[in-house]
Amino acid sequence: MSGHEFQSHFENSGSIDMDDTSTNIDETTMDELRQLAARYPQKRSALLPMLHLVQSVDGRVSPAGIQACADVLEISTAQVSGVATFYTMYKRRPAGKHHVGVCTTALCAVMGGDILLDRVQAKLGIGENETTPDGKISLERLECNAACDFAPVMMVNWEFMDHMTPAKADELLDKLLNDEEVHSTRGARITSWREAERVLAGFPDGLADEGPTAGDSSLVGLRIAQQRGWKAPTAEQAPVEQAGSEQASSGEETK
Ligand code: FES
Repeated sequence: MSGHEFQSHFENSGSIDMDDTSTNIDETTMDELRQLAARYPQKRSALLPMLHLVQSVDGRVSPAGIQACADVLEISTAQVSGVATFYTMYKRRPAGKHHVGVCTTALCAVMGGDILLDRVQAKLGIGENETTPDGKISLERLECNAACDFAPVMMVNWEFMDHMTPAKADELLDKLLNDEEVHSTRGARITSWREAERVLAGFPDGLADEGPTAGDSSLVGLRIAQQRGWKAPTAEQAPVEQAGSEQASSGEETK
């Protein structure tokens, strides 16, 4: 093995599966990878979207995808693998047609996120980072999605499912398993994980404006402020801290 190839010294550590050499990358994909590289002044800046494009055609970060990115960007496969294995959005094993995430960070946990994750695992018969045998659904425990006002949240192909309950999760999974049409609670129609990955790569599908830009839960504070006539202070009204006085007072405290 040359010094430019990626080698894991930890067996079963979740490294990229180099034994699975299957790929759908063709000349069209190579053209699109080159298009992405050309969008940036420094072409290696395109690596993140390029890896999303690899996932959109191969369903994972494939060895062929790593080689393709390295060839286009003129960097080593070790450099590509180092990035691909750092971020959790890059999958080292094939994801399902739909990728389901359940948030179990603090606020979602308080609101039942762990119960949801248990329910989803039991219903699908798979654990975290696994895919159902029919390839329809893969599952991931997610860190905070910055949607805490909608807790507990799940995601399907990175689209939000807000205010989830075990019953709603059951209904959602049944629809996904039966290939029925599903919409995010914010309106957008759910496509597939691979199609979503293509959008993340920078090839829009025209669906970005489906659904509202802000949900009810995010607007509660604004509505209360409007009802009560509260206004944010202007820049002139905001108290200005004097750098000198701050230093003086902190100096006082340390004496
Ligand atoms: S804790 Fe789940 S979205 Fe923030």
